Amino acid sequence: MKEKIVYVGMSADLVHTGHLNIIREAKNLGKVIVGVLTDEAIASYKRLPFLDYEQRSEIVINLKGVDEVIPQTTLDYVPNLEKLRPDYVVHGDDWKEGVQKQVRQKVVDKLSEWGGIVVDIPYTVGVSSTKFNQYLKEIGTTPDFRRARLRRLIDAKDIVRICESHSGLTGLIVENESVEVNGVKREFDGMWCSSLTDSTSKGKPDIEAVDLTTRLHALNDSLECTTKPIIYDGDTGGKLEHFVFTVRTLERLGVSAVIIEDKIGLKQNSLFGTDAVQTQDSIENFCQKIKAGKRAQITQDFMIISRIESFIAGKGLEDALERAYAYVGAGTDGIMIHSKEKNGEDIKEFCQEFRKKCNAIPIVVVPTTFNHIREEELIKWGVNIVIYANHLLRSAYPAMVNTAKSILTNGRSYEASRDYCMPIKQILNLIPNSDS
Ligand code: SPV
Ligand code: MG
Repeated sequence: MKEKIVYVGMSADLVHTGHLNIIREAKNLGKVIVGVLTDEAIASYKRLPFLDYEQRSEIVINLKGVDEVIPQTTLDYVPNLEKLRPDYVVHGDDWKEGVQKQVRQKVVDKLSEWGGIVVDIPYTVGVSSTKFNQYLKEIGTTPDFRRARLRRLIDAKDIVRICESHSGLTGLIVENESVEVNGVKREFDGMWCSSLTDSTSKGKPDIEAVDLTTRLHALNDSLECTTKPIIYDGDTGGKLEHFVFTVRTLERLGVSAVIIEDKIGLKQNSLFGTDAVQTQDSIENFCQKIKAGKRAQITQDFMIISRIESFIAGKGLEDALERAYAYVGAGTDGIMIHSKEKNGEDIKEFCQEFRKKCNAIPIVVVPTTFNHIREEELIKWGVNIVIYANHLLRSAYPAMVNTAKSILTNGRSYEASRDYCMPIKQILNLIPNSDS
């Protein structure tokens, strides 16, 4: 009799006895083909796995009972099922609930076309990937691992979602907060080390007055208590001769990317637009800076992203595109296009035009003024990274001002505590002891 084909789909990021149990049961039914979910398939419904596809498939092929490994490129099993026409699909019974419920139903329907059946294996009690993830977060990360994660995220996700962090506390918020929308977990993918929020939180203007060493202290606070990748706002990058050292420093710390803007002279925050003097560097000079930075970096992972300030300086699409192609030619790893227009039309037009000629270079946007545009729309424009550049600081400040005013007004803190503050017990337990 022909050997039965058994298909098992799994992420296999943190392999535990539950996975081994499923493979054992599958092997009892026939030849086991494991569809290892690609980074892209996993990132479509939960966080990016710790190990990449190559590493995970290498592990799975070496597990006892596995006969073959193939990629499963979508959360949907159907494409692989149509190719293999298996007699069985074996899975832990946890997929009967939650986001995977519909996925299971599609498998049941598809298999019924050729008489195949789904075998649900009771979930192994006492092992939980969620718990393992928690342990891994507690163990932390390394600079190499963290740095490489941004490129993987760009490859795996429709859009990479970055939020500003200027302290340990904001780092923890970006690291840990998540919501569930239509059964899919949503969280931030990484942090933006913003010059605006770094300098504002130090009571200084955003004019490169806070030096690199000082900014590295804030960066280090975020690095200390998080594992997600970091994009560093490098302002103008400074002098070319200095920028090469900045690149080395950031790369060594495990930062994934630096963004430098093509301005010279006294830097002013871009959101002043033409209300401030915004002088752009020449294309040639800025290309030299990009090239010097690229030569200075050591790993393949680190990214130097060029920020085009044409719209900020009151110039048009043509200037922005000319610069974009020149910076790509100089070896930049990404283009950030910025604007302070509210409707987002200039950014949209830029993205669409740029994408006609250049598909491989990631586009970064910072929708502070055009904040009505949703991520779904940005994806359609061809955007790869969205940065929410200042929102944690901007929301914290008015809350603190309210509290200060309430204490002054009432001559006591009773009202402020009642109306604006988290309970003492909560603040005491907000940061757990690391060794308990
Ligand atoms: C920052 O966050 O510091 C930025 C973005 O550079 S913006 O403030 O919009 O210029
Ligand atoms: Mg800045």
